[in-house]
Amino acid sequence: MSRVLVTPALPYANGDAHLGHLVEHLQVNTYVRALRMGGDDVLYVCGIDSHGAGIEIAAKKAGLAPEVYTEQVRRRQEASFARFLVGFDGGYGTTHTAENEAHAGRIWQALKSAGHITTKEVEQLQDPADGRFLADRFVKGTCPKCGATDQYGDACEVCNSTYRATDLKDPVSVVSGLTPTLGTSVHYMVTLGAYTAPLQAYLATDGVLHQSLQNFLHTWFGEGLKDWDVSRDGPYFGFKIPGEDNKYFYVWLDAPIGYVSLTQRALAAADAVTKASWQDYWNDPSTRIEHFIGKDILYFHTLFWPAMCMAAGQTLPAHIRVHGMLTLNGHKMSKSRGTFINADEFAAVCEPQALRYYFAAKMTAEPQDIDLNFEDLTNRVNADLVNNVVNLVSRSLPLLHRSFDGKPTTLPEDLSALIHDVQEQSAQVEKLYRHLDTAGVVRIVTELGSRANKLMQDSAPWALVKTDPARAQGILTTALWVGKTCLALLKPILPDVAARLEDMLGVQPFTFHTAADPLPVGVALKPYEHLFQRVELKGLQALIKPTEVAAVVEVVEVAASKPAKKPAKAAPAEPPAEIVFDDFAKVDLRAAKVLSATAVVGSDKLIEVKADVGGVVGERTIFTGLRPHVQPEQLVGRTVVVVVNLAPRKMAKFGISHGMILAVGEVPKPLFVDGAMPGDRVS
Ligand code: MSP
Ligand code: ZN
Repeated sequence: MSRVLVTPALPYANGDAHLGHLVEHLQVNTYVRALRMGGDDVLYVCGIDSHGAGIEIAAKKAGLAPEVYTEQVRRRQEASFARFLVGFDGGYGTTHTAENEAHAGRIWQALKSAGHITTKEVEQLQDPADGRFLADRFVKGTCPKCGATDQYGDACEVCNSTYRATDLKDPVSVVSGLTPTLGTSVHYMVTLGAYTAPLQAYLATDGVLHQSLQNFLHTWFGEGLKDWDVSRDGPYFGFKIPGEDNKYFYVWLDAPIGYVSLTQRALAAADAVTKASWQDYWNDPSTRIEHFIGKDILYFHTLFWPAMCMAAGQTLPAHIRVHGMLTLNGHKMSKSRGTFINADEFAAVCEPQALRYYFAAKMTAEPQDIDLNFEDLTNRVNADLVNNVVNLVSRSLPLLHRSFDGKPTTLPEDLSALIHDVQEQSAQVEKLYRHLDTAGVVRIVTELGSRANKLMQDSAPWALVKTDPARAQGILTTALWVGKTCLALLKPILPDVAARLEDMLGVQPFTFHTAADPLPVGVALKPYEHLFQRVELKGLQALIKPTEVAAVVEVVEVAASKPAKKPAKAAPAEPPAEIVFDDFAKVDLRAAKVLSATAVVGSDKLIEVKADVGGVVGERTIFTGLRPHVQPEQLVGRTVVVVVNLAPRKMAKFGISHGMILAVGEVPKPLFVDGAMPGDRVS
């Protein structure tokens, strides 16, 4: 059995755990639980990324020493992750440790010995108050391109142009509010270009990086790898560079080295049976190292970190697994819009396992952005999980108790088709988890659950008890068995539910091998106890702080007052050719009521709408490109106008659109005809 080391990225120590972090942590945690359930020897480590100018300044603002400040953040993040059933070997650590400093020194020495460290004079803005050099984000001023005020030193949020902080007009230090001066300082640089060929070879290795990310690499290698600036002058919170007085390692140098020191810490904390050392993980090529990251930190993990590993003769990560960024109801989470949600705030209004389930249902190995839509979450959890899979257990177990002393019987022979499918599908699930295809797992389980529920509905064992009790007991046993198997298969996603079910059934902890085992025949099970709390949409909606409404209105107004980015379709030089009434009559326009609307993952524009188009036509799936102008939830329950006889159109890889929703205006808004009945003709 090979050793596996799994790491999520190390969250910055400047704030609480939030829903964006959870996208990553829930994916990794589910993966680790699945590997362990499949018998793998996994070490799983994480901790805060403690260093950097931002954290030094945040601590100062809080009136605390950075060590004290980051320790408070570490504890809070650890507690938040624990609520989502996420915990790490050796506890949740930090990069600010003696071990990490030693490893940073070791790798620094290796880079130096290889001749890959040079120096460079760097010109930078400096705060006159204490002489500190100001990182781009610590300078604000007027955009040199468009004149927008209050812009950061690296990019303008109004016109999107990028520039150097020294180009800002009227610059101000965010730290002191004073006008910065220009200073120079000597920085240490890693000559990353020296690693071009080995990095290219490494990243082309099968399995290291998802195929769809190779484009980024082409661009980076095409432009040539630039020297990497790895030193910062004090004041800075970090490790001093050996032999230097006021120079520190840039946080991104020692942050990934944290993966090594956290390994060491976890092994030291492990029970005495584990004799492994950090070298067994980092110097033994048979150990499989897997990093999980968001695509925003790809550069650091595909170029800087492997180059450091190469210099130090360490094992290279076997997989850099990348996920997309979270959007909330179709938008980036944003503090100013009131849509920035902490992990604890979420847990206060919704069972944390609901989020584990929802992300799992939507995620695969594809590094696509992932949208958290409250309505979608509520539907999926309540309909696919509670009313489906959990329902099998919550209905059948009490009925078994009512009429059969809580004792299951053997599975009826005439149900062998269903039984066979459950067994066969179950055998596929472990592989899906290993490929990060949790969406596939959820699909299988939901499908099996539906079939067993249909069996319950069709055979109504609650009534059958009176006429054919043996049959009723067989049906109830089957329903319970399918429910149990489904929840056993979902154990990496819903660990608490699975544990409570194991206890209720008095069985050993589920594994992939035992998931579909039969229930103990003739043995009384414990009474049913509540397994899952339904999601309340209202509670979730209350997470959006009131500022959002104002901000959305503002965004819409800005959009409306600005010419659209792409020029609106040029007016035709000639009026369009005249048509006769019959031509117009060919277009079948009907009122349709929107039943559901979901932002399409992986597309900025598309919303998938299910709409009731009335009697003859019924329900339709329509993809509309209105997402930039309307939020999916603003469509639900409204009545729109649909072209129902438009030929079906394939929407890239997302599906087929059966119709088109009419919109009006230069910034297109859906044309609502609330009050009309679904199917009413528009003429
Ligand atoms: N400290 C660095 C990582 C150092 S790793 C040696 C960092 N920290 S972070 O707190 O900003 O992000 C930690 C992880 O969470 C990253 O992988 C990041 O991609 C992920 N996410 C943070 N916000 C996110 C979203 N809104 N959506 C999805 N993932 C996001 O980067
Ligand atoms: Zn600008």
